[in-house]
Amino acid sequence: MLSWAVMLKLPGLIDIHVHLRDPGQTEKEDFFTGTCAAIAGGFTTVIDMPNNVTPVTSLKTLKRKIEIAKEKTVCDIGFYAGSLGDNLDELMKMEPYVFGLKLYLNRTTGNYIIDKDKLKDIYRAWKSDKPILLHAESDVVEDSIGVAKAMGKKLHICHIASKFELSTIMRAKDKGFNVTCGVTPHHFFLTIDDVRKLGAFAMMKPPVEEGAIDFLWNNLDYIDVVESDHAPHTKEEKLSRNPTFGVPNLDTTLPLLLTAVSEGRLTLERLKELCFYNPKKIFNIKTDENTYVEVDEEEIFVINKKMLYTKCGWSPYEGREMRGKVKRVFYRGRKVFEDGRLFVGRGDGVVDTGEK
Ligand code: NCD
Ligand code: ZN
Repeated sequence: MLSWAVMLKLPGLIDIHVHLRDPGQTEKEDFFTGTCAAIAGGFTTVIDMPNNVTPVTSLKTLKRKIEIAKEKTVCDIGFYAGSLGDNLDELMKMEPYVFGLKLYLNRTTGNYIIDKDKLKDIYRAWKSDKPILLHAESDVVEDSIGVAKAMGKKLHICHIASKFELSTIMRAKDKGFNVTCGVTPHHFFLTIDDVRKLGAFAMMKPPVEEGAIDFLWNNLDYIDVVESDHAPHTKEEKLSRNPTFGVPNLDTTLPLLLTAVSEGRLTLERLKELCFYNPKKIFNIKTDENTYVEVDEEEIFVINKKMLYTKCGWSPYEGREMRGKVKRVFYRGRKVFEDGRLFVGRGDGVVDTGEK
């Protein structure tokens, strides 16, 4: 018997936080494989972080990255500028070509940390209304918000993972301060028990905190975006004695969120706000009305590594049952994905430099 599932139409989703590893670590991912994973996962715009092997802290490194992306991307892609505190005169040169400035106040992949004392100088040199994004864990959050508030800067705090961090943001928001924040799929969907079972395959920055998952869900109203922090590493690195931090996400974010919708933990309206309307507004991202995603909300399937397009070839969610599957994706009017198959060519996507 034939049955016609009613497809749900969503706008092409936006992921404001990905690490596509290109150039420099293309054994983990590259602009082609990473953006293929995005499309297959219902995301048609991604913004890539600057913690490459050669950090993107100058106009020269940024322009080189943009040129490489133009040859490989299959969806819309944009970038952030980075700083190690030593490139103040480069910041406004990069500004016209990026969606914001990313700063790391805690140690993570690429040893890309800056000294807290440099924060004021960097904030001052960023003479832009494009957001400053912070990787700021635990008590660092409060300080960095305070400085930004005093200097009138627009701040986005990445990957909120703990009760303490979210409470700090909640207080700042309740006082009317212009700060936004994002939560990753792993902090929404991996429990501490999952982390114990998965070992290195669930090691990431910030780590999953015991009990935080319920606090994040219970205070969803304070969360502005879901950002995947798609951070692929090879299986060999994860199995080594010194595993790297980070997990892939682009293929699986939307099925996880649709499953939460089917369980009544999230509304579809909220899903669209978190993955489209809010990122679009906060980062001033242009989108195309002929770019959209069709999902079957009822389809039940199990995540397996064969269906993944990320080059790293694994997912912390392998074996999980999902309800809600991406069936088709249309990019600028063209069908680019249907029933697990991609119809894309390297460089078919658009590099959005954020220029006005
Ligand atoms: C990220 C990576 O691997 O680039 N790792 C991670 O655990 N999140 C870096 C980062 O966003 O901190
Ligand atoms: Zn990240």
